[in-house]
Amino acid sequence: MDNETKQKINKRYERELNRGERFWPDSIFKDLIVSLGIFVLLIVLATFIGVDAQPKVDPSDTTYIPRPEWYFLFLFKFLAIYGQIPLLGKIEWLATVVVPGIAILILALMPFIDRSPFRYYGKRVLPISVMAVIVVDIVMLTIMADVPTVTENGSMLPGILQAIAGMVIPLVAIILLFLMTFVFRRTSTKTMIWTAAISAVLTIGLTGSVLALFPVPAAQKTTVATTLVDQITAGQDLYSANCTQCHGDDGKVTKIEGVKGLEGKLIPAIHSTDVLYTLDDAALAQVIAYGRPEAGMTPFGKTYGGQLSASDIDNIVIFMRYTWDDRFEAPKLKPLFPPLAAGEVPSYAVHIQPIVKRYCLSCHVAGKENNNFLMDSYDNILHTGDHKANDVIAGDANSYLLQVIQGHPIPDPKDPTKTLIRAMPPNGHLPPNVIDALMRWIMAGMPQTAADAAKLSVTPTPAAGSAGTPSATPTP
Ligand code: HEC
Ligand code: HEC
Repeated sequence: MDNETKQKINKRYERELNRGERFWPDSIFKDLIVSLGIFVLLIVLATFIGVDAQPKVDPSDTTYIPRPEWYFLFLFKFLAIYGQIPLLGKIEWLATVVVPGIAILILALMPFIDRSPFRYYGKRVLPISVMAVIVVDIVMLTIMADVPTVTENGSMLPGILQAIAGMVIPLVAIILLFLMTFVFRRTSTKTMIWTAAISAVLTIGLTGSVLALFPVPAAQKTTVATTLVDQITAGQDLYSANCTQCHGDDGKVTKIEGVKGLEGKLIPAIHSTDVLYTLDDAALAQVIAYGRPEAGMTPFGKTYGGQLSASDIDNIVIFMRYTWDDRFEAPKLKPLFPPLAAGEVPSYAVHIQPIVKRYCLSCHVAGKENNNFLMDSYDNILHTGDHKANDVIAGDANSYLLQVIQGHPIPDPKDPTKTLIRAMPPNGHLPPNVIDALMRWIMAGMPQTAADAAKLSVTPTPAAGSAGTPSATPTP
């Protein structure tokens, strides 16, 4: 570049500098364009990506661990590692008020501390390197936010490493940078840039090792039912698991059967208008949450020691309304299992598991009165029960299970006036298509997967028997 062009450029630069930029309308105009862009971006994100729905808040849930939004996670982590410092850790206001206050103050005072008139970044090393150290620190603290400070076996190591990465290194770097600028005035800009860079690399490297050494426990993904159909389905599953044993799968039970301690107890049928018209949603939810302890219904709400969250209970109430309350019209729900064609053999995976879950599982799990017949897995159905030799026999229509689900109790061989096993479920009747599916399954040899079942299925010839009678025989 010859001198002439150099001068030209310098002149133009001078001119531009002097002309400056007017706040109105130049700057404002640029600002408007940028904010419009962000606004459009937000609308697009909200429309096409959105935010996962979260479970309903439950003000009385003491197990809830509050967490800030992601942009405050760095402060959250800072508080966590600060809390580990032996003596200072006790003085909370230092970390929540004083330290962030000082940080903000430094940022606000930066233009007054560094009074260099130049815009060129080579002449503004202090503010830029301080800012870089702080930004790297904030990002790293945010990334580490989910790593616990103490391991499960009580080791403080993750906390110590995090404190070094997130507090000690940045603090030392910032102090050094200020010392270099104001105390050892001769320090070269290179040294300052190196200081900031080394501190950033150390912080990032330590954060990486913390993440590698102490991986974040996988968060339990809570799926939240948002559509009415999903809510009813979720409510139905919860009802099957928690309520069927006493109230029956259809809420019709008026006399409890098959439940230890409550045998023969008379209760109101909860599917009736009597109950559903008298109790509004809030009252129903309250009954479920608190139970009727004096009558034998244990509390279900987390608040009272049960397992169900506020959203769970709401879903059960919605299920009850839309299934039993004639003032509500249920949307079309998916059938419990895909309907069976003539000659089709059902499988455990596709048909039997959902049936068992809806109609049997609430009693046939460990810890309930059920003759030790556990129905929570394929193997258990085949191999548990006081009468496991007779319960499920491939190809045998006299299998105890098939007899009891059709309403034929098994008499006691020693004393025929007594029953060995009563009709199942003890508190209601199964719909014909469910009995048919269980029948076909056992007659065909209890296939586990859809593929196994497909091999056993036969395509009916026009002369073959009607649907509903097992038409496939087990292949030996
Ligand atoms: C261990 C047996 C048992 C289980 C499980 C059970 N209940 Fe109950 N429930 C009862 C008894 C007993 C009563 C009768 C209380 C009474 O007579 O006051 C009752 C009463 C009710 C009532 C109130 C009826 C009224 O008019 O006050 C509702 C509603 C109800 N249950 C819903 C449920 C729901 C929903 C579930 C599942 C989350 C459930 N129950 C689980 C035993 C049970
Ligand atoms: C309300 C609780 C309850 C429900 C729901 C229930 N059972 Fe039972 N089941 C029992 C009890 C209690 C026994 C013990 C025998 C008895 O008391 O008659 C039992 C026993 C059995 C037995 C005999 C096991 C053995 O080896 O002696 C079979 C088979 C059985 N149930 C099948 C089913 C099936 C299939 C379903 C679902 C369609 C079902 N049960 C639903 C309570 C229940």
